[in-house]
Amino acid sequence: MKKAVYPGSFDPFTVGHSDIMCRAAKLFDTLYVTVLVNAGKKPTFDFLQRKAMIEAVVSELKLTNVIVETSDGLLVDYVKKVGACCVVRGIRGAFETESEFILDQANKHLDSSFETVYLASEPAKRHISSSMVREIGSYNGNLQGLVPDTIKTMIAERLNNNE
Ligand code: COA
Repeated sequence: MKKAVYPGSFDPFTVGHSDIMCRAAKLFDTLYVTVLVNAGKKPTFDFLQRKAMIEAVVSELKLTNVIVETSDGLLVDYVKKVGACCVVRGIRGAFETESEFILDQANKHLDSSFETVYLASEPAKRHISSSMVREIGSYNGNLQGLVPDTIKTMIAERLNNNE
């Protein structure tokens, strides 16, 4: 039984994240999509909002082997707790490899018993980021194609209320 964790801050979850999640779900028996704390970021959406949005997408896509959770601890501790053999991360381009490798080294320093596998983002989704979504949404711009349709209204309403 191969379990993997797809961690992120998912603030908010985008179609880019959804692409990685769907592809990773095909590679493992169970995929945990886990909302974690990125100490360098102040989130716009709270933990429960982010979890609820990802659950709505998982339900819409009928991904029966995906479990959505939150954790406010270290990724390595979470991976151990659920018994996963690896972590999945998406790579959108060369600009992202350095920071991803540093994150991997930090995790390996803490626990070298699991691997991180990287999935290349679909080319049409490489320009998408959560901060781009937050910026466009805060000006009431069109989020079509940037976030999953199921959660588009939820995201737009939250970003508008944030002004
Ligand atoms: N498609 C679109 N966008 C993507 C993407 C994809 N496939 N993959 C990443 N991104 C973007 C996100 O939109 C986000 O954009 P933003 O910076 O504009 O907001 C950015 O890349 C990264 O976001 P995401 O992948 O959601 O999460 P993250 O990189 O912030 O996640 C954690 C980092 C949460 C995994 C990491 O901080 C962590 O493990 N925290 C727990 C504590 C810990 O163990 N720390 C490690 C020891 S230092």
